[in-house]
Formats: sequence, C-alpha cells, structure tokens
Amino acid sequence: MKPFDVVVVGGGGAGLYAAMEAMKTNPSLNIAVLSKVYPNRSHTSAAQGGANAALANKAKDDTVEMHIFDTIKGSDYLADQDAVDVLCSEAPKIIRELDNIGTPWSRMDDNTIAQRPFGGAGRPRCCYCSDKTGHTILQTLYEQCLKKGVIFFNEYFALNLSVNGSRSRGLIAMNMKTGKVEAFPARTVIFATGGHSKMYWNRSSNAAGNTGDGQAIAYRAGIPLKDMEFVQFHPTGLRKSGLLITEGARGEGGYLVNRDGERFMARYAKEKMELGPRDLVSRSIETEILEGRGFDSPAGKYIHLDLTHLGADLIKSRLPQIREMSMQFEGVDPIEEPIPVRPTAHYSMGGIDTDNFGRTVMDGVYAAGECACVSVHGANRLGGNSLLDILVFGRIAGRMAAEESGKFEPGIISDAELKEQLAATRSNMQSSGHFERYGALREELGQTLAINVGIFRESSLLQQGIRDIAELKERFKKVRVFDSSDVFNTNLMQVLELKNMLDLAETVAAGAYAREESRGSHTRTDFPVRDDAKWHKHSVATLVNGTLSLGEKPVTMGRYELQERTY
Ligand code: FUM
Repeated sequence: MKPFDVVVVGGGGAGLYAAMEAMKTNPSLNIAVLSKVYPNRSHTSAAQGGANAALANKAKDDTVEMHIFDTIKGSDYLADQDAVDVLCSEAPKIIRELDNIGTPWSRMDDNTIAQRPFGGAGRPRCCYCSDKTGHTILQTLYEQCLKKGVIFFNEYFALNLSVNGSRSRGLIAMNMKTGKVEAFPARTVIFATGGHSKMYWNRSSNAAGNTGDGQAIAYRAGIPLKDMEFVQFHPTGLRKSGLLITEGARGEGGYLVNRDGERFMARYAKEKMELGPRDLVSRSIETEILEGRGFDSPAGKYIHLDLTHLGADLIKSRLPQIREMSMQFEGVDPIEEPIPVRPTAHYSMGGIDTDNFGRTVMDGVYAAGECACVSVHGANRLGGNSLLDILVFGRIAGRMAAEESGKFEPGIISDAELKEQLAATRSNMQSSGHFERYGALREELGQTLAINVGIFRESSLLQQGIRDIAELKERFKKVRVFDSSDVFNTNLMQVLELKNMLDLAETVAAGAYAREESRGSHTRTDFPVRDDAKWHKHSVATLVNGTLSLGEKPVTMGRYELQERTY
C-alpha cells in the first residue's frame, strides 16, 4: 500500500476534525481515517449537552477570560494554564466555523446561537443542538471529510504502532471484515480513539467500544500516559444502564432530589446547587445514597432527577433524546415523573501525554481528544469542555501533522512484522486446557474498578483493586476465543479490547494509589485534603521493559494562583 502522509486512528469528532484540517492545510496529502465503527456511529454522537464558548449571546458580560478561569478552577488547578488559554480562546471561532459548515446549532429568538448553563460555569455558555449536539457535529464533520477526499477505512481494529527507535513507521490494524492484519505505513499517525471508561463496564455511560485502544497502543509503544488516576463520574447516569442523562437537563432547570423530597445540593454547593462541577455533584449524590437518603430498588440505589416542573414543551424541544432514553431504558416519562439516576463513569481526564500541538514524545505520533491529555481538564473536566476539546485540539493536531509530515520519511512495515502481529493477535485462539471466559473477566474488572477505584477511594480499597487487576491480567492469558472465523470475529475483538482495558486499568489504579491527596475527581477518604505542596503535579505512567513505572511532570501555571475551590 502507498504510504500515507497522515493516518488518523479514530472516526469521532477529534479524528474527523484532524483529518478535515490536515486536508485543508495541504490538499495534496494522502490522508486516511481508520475507524473501529462507522464514523457517524462513533461515541461523539452520544455527547448530548453541548460545547462551551464565550460567545456572550445569552449572558452579554461573558468573556473568554471567565471561561479560562472556570476551567482552571474546575480542574482543581491541575490543568496546564497555557493549554487552557488555547482551548478557551479558540472556542468562539470554532463554534462559528462549525456554524458556517452546517452544524444546526439551536438558536435564540434573535437568531444567535443558543447557550445554556452548565456545571461549574460562571455564565451560560454551553452551545447546543437540542440534546443531540455531538451527533450533529459528527455528521457535519463526516460530510466535510468526504467532500475533501479523506480516505476512510471503516471497521478496522487498530492493533499496534510499528516503531523504529524513537519514531513510528505507521500503524498495524485488523480489517474486521476479513480478519486480515494490514499495514498502514505513514509519515504521521494521530490517535483520536476516545476514552476508556467502558472499563467500569455496567457503571459507565460509555459505548461498548470505548476501551481505550489508542491509549493502550501508545502506552505499549513506550509513549507516556498522563494523569490516568483522574476518572470522571458523570452525576446523572440512568440507574439501570448507566447511560448518560445530560447535564443540560439540570442546565435547563432540573432538580436533584433525595427520598425525603429534599433538593440536597443545598448542603454541598449552596450557590451553584445542581450546577456545581461534576466531581462535587457526583460525590454529593453518592453521599446521599451512602447515608441512606437515596431510593432503593432491585436495580440498585439511586436518587431522582426531577424535570416535571419544566413542562412538556421545554422537554420536548430541548431534551427530546433524554426523554426517549428515560422511557425506553427506565419506563419513565420525565414530563410526568422524575428520572432515577446515579453517577456513572463517563470520561478519562488522563491520556496520552501531548504538548499543546498534539505532539507526543515519539516523532510523527500525535494525539487529540479524550485519548489525549494536553492537559486542559486537570483533575476534573467541566461539562461542555469535552466537545470543545475534540474540536480545538483535533484541529491543531491535524494541522500540525500535515505541516510536519514532510519532516518524516514514510515508514516501511515488513511482512515479518505483520506475521508476528497476526500471531500475537490470535494467541488467545490457541489456548487449550483450563480456560477463562472473556465475559467473566470483563464483569470482574468493572466491579473491582467501581468498588475499589470509584468515586471514593482509600488505601486498602485501592490495594485490593491493584491485586484484582494483576490477577485478572494473569487470568487473561488463559482467555479463550471460541469463534475461529475470520469474518467479523467480535469475540476476538472483545478479547483484544479487554487486554487494552486491563493495561489501562492498571495505570488508573496505580496512579490513584500513589496520589495521597484529594483533588477534583480523585477523592481519597484517607487523604481528604488537597496537598499542593506534595501533589500539585501531573502523574506520568510509562511502560518500561514491560513494567509500569510512575513518574511526574510539573503543572504549567499562568495568571491564576492556587486557591481553595468553593462553589
Ligand atoms: O452532560 C452532558 O451532556 C455531557 C457533556 C460532557 O460530557 O461534556
């Protein structure tokens, strides 16, 4: 195959923006997107609420500076302030650019782009398309990529980077339709593979495919992962499935209510109430449940998200998808009754360590979106900053890879390497004798993470989590792939995904055990206070000779000094 100038791994918002921008930067380049699913089915489509930008349409006094401050404060001062400057300064431009290329933003009466309040934000600055924002952005970007001539390899499962010393030769991936392992020699590779929160399995808002594939591939290739201990629990997942009920529901005026009929957020965030930052709201809900003020049911404990006072018109026009989901997955119509919800693993603040241009330590390898850690979210991401992140840093990484691709020779991936990869990929097909089942391990991984590496963490729980993950990794060697076919072997792919989740789970638990403080989403009941003297730094997880090694990196400060974080 002719070498590519840019191979983008992942067909979600970050990947598509990167490909579109790379093409725009240099239309003569040979640019491909590889995607595990059809791009318009990628997990970006599940992002409901919106993207933040200080357009000042709704609140005339909103400014980019306020957005910057809210983001840094929300991150519990762990975000790199130069990166946050880029994120928030680019936001108004990128929202308008999407408007220009066809994203159907919801509008206000004066026809300007509508904005709604979101958690942890000082002004209503979340731009939205009803409650289907990610879905509409994805369609717009996919259309543009097709129009510009990006080549798509859909239903390809990324397996490995081909590495030569300190640089990549390209990507090796499996064609899911044929089972063939194929080479994608490339001058540059951009990872845009999304998050890993499906490792929490049935306590997750994520799609089944969000198994951290790009992060795991980068990690195994020796590229460091940053801040992996920070996992965001979204406050309102549906009780049974964990599926997302957008923060937009609270932005539109929804209440959180316990079994005593109390709007309990008054106890935890007097000023912001339901629109506190996610870490705080999730902890508050869990506390209500742990202290016996939640509701009980065979499907688990929960609290109520009450929208009934918002009225049918508002719910039907601005929150139609969550109404549909509540009816389908909980049998509850939010126009008539409160929705049963509980926090759900939603987002990985940590990821592939990049600079502000999406570059990793490996020449020719870039990352953007949830799989990357620039870091703009620090210890806790604000709702509405994720779609923004994929747009802003997807664009930057795409431009950078296109501009720099000429610096790198196209790689050559040998047949011998492909053969070796094929054997490694199919190793679990050969297991004989005593075997383990993929489904059991996946469930156990989700359970140990939810119990031991969840919202509230503590030394003995984390040690248990670390032991469990190590044991699961051992047992994984005996997992058997029962399906021997080459065509859409989903059994094989699930096993490969499990391997990725296990490797990443180890970095999450180890980072959480090491960080002896509470900051943002990382709450240590045995170290309840933020310890800036010791822990105001990023953690870095690197695989050295097959073993996880933890290091650190300084946080880039700027205009904002460390402060106590109150809401
Ligand atoms: O609540 C939501 O709509 C999710 C948004 C986000 O994660 O940014």
